[in-house]
Amino acid sequence: MPESVVDPVDTVTEVPVAVVGAGPAGLMLAHRLGRAGVDAVALDLRTREEIATTHRAGILEADAARDLVETGVGDRILREGHEHGGTELRFGGRAHRIDFRELVGASVWLYPQTEVFTDLADARERDGGTVHFGVRGTEVLDVGTDRPRVRFTAADGTRHELRARYVVGADGSRSTCRGLVPEALRTRYGTEYPFAWFGVLVRAPASAPELVYAHSEHGFALISRRTESVQRMYFQCDPDERTEDWPDGRIWETLQARVAGEDGFRLVEGPVLERSVLRFRSFVQEPMRWGSLLLAGDAAHTVPPTGARGLNLALHDVKVLAGVLLRALGAEGEAALADYQPLALRRIWRAQHFSSWMTRLLHTAPDASPFELRRQLGELDGVVGTRAGRAYLAEQYTGWPASA
Ligand code: PHB
Repeated sequence: MPESVVDPVDTVTEVPVAVVGAGPAGLMLAHRLGRAGVDAVALDLRTREEIATTHRAGILEADAARDLVETGVGDRILREGHEHGGTELRFGGRAHRIDFRELVGASVWLYPQTEVFTDLADARERDGGTVHFGVRGTEVLDVGTDRPRVRFTAADGTRHELRARYVVGADGSRSTCRGLVPEALRTRYGTEYPFAWFGVLVRAPASAPELVYAHSEHGFALISRRTESVQRMYFQCDPDERTEDWPDGRIWETLQARVAGEDGFRLVEGPVLERSVLRFRSFVQEPMRWGSLLLAGDAAHTVPPTGARGLNLALHDVKVLAGVLLRALGAEGEAALADYQPLALRRIWRAQHFSSWMTRLLHTAPDASPFELRRQLGELDGVVGTRAGRAYLAEQYTGWPASA
């Protein structure tokens, strides 16, 4: 007996592409396909509100920002985002600016991922795309065949079945879709770090015009921004740190100690509005395609936040994937899918390297010896003190030319 008879649904929808996960990767894919006249239905366990208030990184490569603008979702970036032509590295108590424009002729945009999500969700609504937020009981079935299905219960309690030609798993770092690739066929690569980030949102004016990445013997700190009156800051902490143990005074003391230096630099303090501990790791699952299932964004790979690559990488994946899916749904057929992984993976491994390099460059391992600290300072000096070193960081940080 077919399953639909055993477990009836309220609606059955035929759709070329079903997208599991409606964060920036899933929505941008649906948006790109929609613009090419191909329907994609996206769904997410989280409510729209939950996704819109989950703070993530805030740096867009110039190419990613341009893609958002060119596809009609980015005019707010131009109005409310901030273009940064450089960044600051602080170590040994001194500031060193990396001038992206002068070194590689590029810049980045400070525009939080939560805003990218909001813009994409608004664009889907404006363009009549279907997105189901707050779904339950998602089942992804038959991805080994050319008739995959996605069944779920929508927020209003109705049961739905999508009958798709392709299913895209864009369901984030805790992806269930990636587990559908049979264990014998998949490889997971990854590494853990012995530290996490303590992230805060504070009500205070900006302390610096650009981002400040600080190395100190007490550990790493990052000073980022959100609005004129709200700032985003992070400091390295133990992965098991509890936010309850961190009153405002202790947070400011820690941050100030990590950015202190002979130039007398100090952060402008204010009330802490939000605090959270962000654990991270480096992870890649290959293959990114199995049967009718394709993985994109954090579902296939995650990077530590230090190099601000995560969102940019996800947007690159879906740029490549949209092109490949359009070919596969057109005259070329399934053979076109073979191009996805090689085009996406090259950038993924570059970003894996850069993110882990920048993480190790700036963080202090709990068991770091005096030798290791001095070795790190030597490496940092080599990065800021040579044009090749500065240009390397600038080129990696601002992104590489797109593969598609
Ligand atoms: C942020 O603004 O949240 C942010 C910026 C740069 C990073 C990570 C996070 O590398």
